[in-house]
Amino acid sequence: MKLVHVFLLLLCFYLSFCKATLTSGTSREDLVEKKCLEKKYTHLSCNKVFCQPWQKCIEGTCRCKLPYQCPKNSTVMCATNGKSYPTYCHLKSLECLHPATKFLNNGTCKAEGKFSVSLYGTADSEGIVEVQLVDQEKKMFICGSSWTIAEANVACFDLGFQQGALGIRRRFNFPEETYLNSTECLHVLCRGFETSLAECTFTKRRAKGYQGLAGVVCYAQNTEVPTDESFQCVNGKYISRTKACDGVNDCGDQSDELCCKGCQGDSFLCKSGVCIPSQQKCNGEVDCITGDDEVDCEGARRPAIQGLAPVAQEETETLTADMNAERKRIKSLLPKLSCGVRNSNHVRRKRVVGGSLAQDVADFPWQVGIKEADGISCGGIYIGGCWVLTAAHCVRVSKTHRYQIWTSLLDWVKYNREIKVELVNRIIIHEKYNASTYQNDIALIELKGYPNPKICELPQSVPACVPWSPYLFQPNDRCIISGWGRGKDKQRVFSLKWGAVNLIGNCSKFYPNRFYEKEMECAGTVDGSIDACKGDSGGPLVCMDANNVTYVWGVVSWGESCGKPEFPGVYTKVANYYDWISYQVGRSLISQYNI
Ligand code: ARG
Repeated sequence: MKLVHVFLLLLCFYLSFCKATLTSGTSREDLVEKKCLEKKYTHLSCNKVFCQPWQKCIEGTCRCKLPYQCPKNSTVMCATNGKSYPTYCHLKSLECLHPATKFLNNGTCKAEGKFSVSLYGTADSEGIVEVQLVDQEKKMFICGSSWTIAEANVACFDLGFQQGALGIRRRFNFPEETYLNSTECLHVLCRGFETSLAECTFTKRRAKGYQGLAGVVCYAQNTEVPTDESFQCVNGKYISRTKACDGVNDCGDQSDELCCKGCQGDSFLCKSGVCIPSQQKCNGEVDCITGDDEVDCEGARRPAIQGLAPVAQEETETLTADMNAERKRIKSLLPKLSCGVRNSNHVRRKRVVGGSLAQDVADFPWQVGIKEADGISCGGIYIGGCWVLTAAHCVRVSKTHRYQIWTSLLDWVKYNREIKVELVNRIIIHEKYNASTYQNDIALIELKGYPNPKICELPQSVPACVPWSPYLFQPNDRCIISGWGRGKDKQRVFSLKWGAVNLIGNCSKFYPNRFYEKEMECAGTVDGSIDACKGDSGGPLVCMDANNVTYVWGVVSWGESCGKPEFPGVYTKVANYYDWISYQVGRSLISQYNI
C-alpha cells in the first residue's frame, strides 16, 4: 500500500461519512459503460430505443416523418397555430418539422381555447407551476404529490428551457392567501418526452388537507457547476451521478439511461443496456428494442400506466384527453413487417454437437443455396422481396447469369418437393469490399422473379429480419449457423446441416490485426466443435430475440481453418450494414419499425 493510500484511509476513518460516499460512488460508476457514453445516445438514437410513431429511424437517428406517412383516421387534434390536424401523429410530425407548433387539445380549434403554463415565483426559471387548461376559466396549481422529474422536465420544455429541469422543489414561498383560496390542485402524468404539458394527462382531485404544490427549477444554461459527482447529459445538463441508470429520465433526453451495465432502484435492464422504469415491464408495450421487457409476464401483467396509482378513495375527474393512449393507437396502426417468424409452429428436433442434419426445410425458411456449375458453392439468406444476402467473396458480377439460387433445399442429391430454383437478375457487391482483409464481405443478389411488376414468389420461404441496431444481440447469446459446407475432416456434405454457436466478444484476441470490431462478429463454441467451414460462406448466422423473432446477425465470412478451438468463425456483422442494405433494397422492405 502506498503512503498516500494510508493517508486517505486514515482521513476516511476520521471523516466517517467519507467511506460511504467513496464506495457507493464506485459501485454506481460501474453501472455506466464509459465507451458507450462517447456515442452520445439520446431518446433519438434508434440503436438504443424505438422512435416515436411520428418518426422513422434513419442512420441511427429518429427523424421526423412527413405528415402523409402517418396512419389515417383518428381523433382530430388542435395545434397552437389555431389549425386542426387529422391525427395526433400528423400534428406531432408537423411539430417535429416546425417545433414552434405545439399540441393544444384534442378536437377542433376554438378561438378561446388556450393552454398555458407559467411559474408563480420570483425568478424566470423557477417557481410554483400554474396551468390554465383549455375550457377552464382559472389558472390552477399542480399537486406536489403527482409531480416527478418527468413532469418537471416537460414543464420546462414547455417554457422554453431545452435542457429541462434542474430539479423539483416542493417548497416554494408563496403568498398564503393564494393557496388558501384554492382548495383544489391538479394531478398530472407525463411520459417525459412530451414537448408541452398540454400533452400530459390532467385529473382533478379533491385534496385531502395540505399536500404541497408542485414547483420546478428549470435548467438555465451554465447554472450548474460540475463536480466529481456529476454526470453530464448529452444535452449539456449536469445531474448527480447517483441518478444515472435508475430508470428515471433525469436528463430529459434519456442520456442517463442508455449506457448501463446494471440498473439501480425500481428499474429494469434491457439487454440493449437501457434502464427503463419497472412500471414499463410487462405493461403490454415493448420498450426494450430487444423485447425482453414483455416476456415471462404471466402473472406479472401490469396495467398500462394509466392515470395515477389510486391514492386513497377520492373523487377524481379526468380533465384532458389521454395522449399516451392516442400514441399507442397510432403505433398499432402502423404497417408491420412480417419477417423472422416461421410459418408453422412446429418444434425443431434437436441433435447434439458437431452439427446436426436439418430435418425440415420449414426450420430454415430463409436459407438459400447458391449453385454454380458443379454444386452448391455458397449459402445465402432470403431477406424479403426478391433479395438474398450473401458474402461478397461468394459472387462475381461477371457471373450473374451463371448462378442459380436454390430455395427450400435440404439435400442437393436427393431432392425434396419444396425446392424452387431462381435465376439472378443483379448482383450488388459492397463497394468497400476488400478481398485481402475480408472487410465488408457482403453482397446482395436480386432474383429474376417476374419482371413487371417485379415480384418473386417463394411460397416456402420466409425472410429473416435485418437487424437495425448493433445492440440487439450480445456476446454469449446463442445463435444458429447452417449450410452445405464441408464437415469434419473436409468431408463433402450434400444435406443441410446446422449447429448452435455463441457470439464471442473481444475477438481481436484470437485474430490480432485481422478482426474489425465494427464490421465483423465472431461466433463459435469453446471447444470449437461447431463451426462453419468451406462452402458455408454467405450463409446465415441467425439469432432469435426475446420474442422468438429471427434476425440475420451475421454472414459466414472467414476463419482460420475450421472447428479449431481459439479460432472461432468470423461473420460479417449485418447490423453495421443496415443502411447500406436498405438503400439498395428499399427502406420499406426491411424496416421493421419506423417505415
Ligand atoms: N471462407 C469460407 C467459405 O468460402 C468460409 C469459412 C468459414 N470458416 C470458419 N472457420 N468459420 O466457405
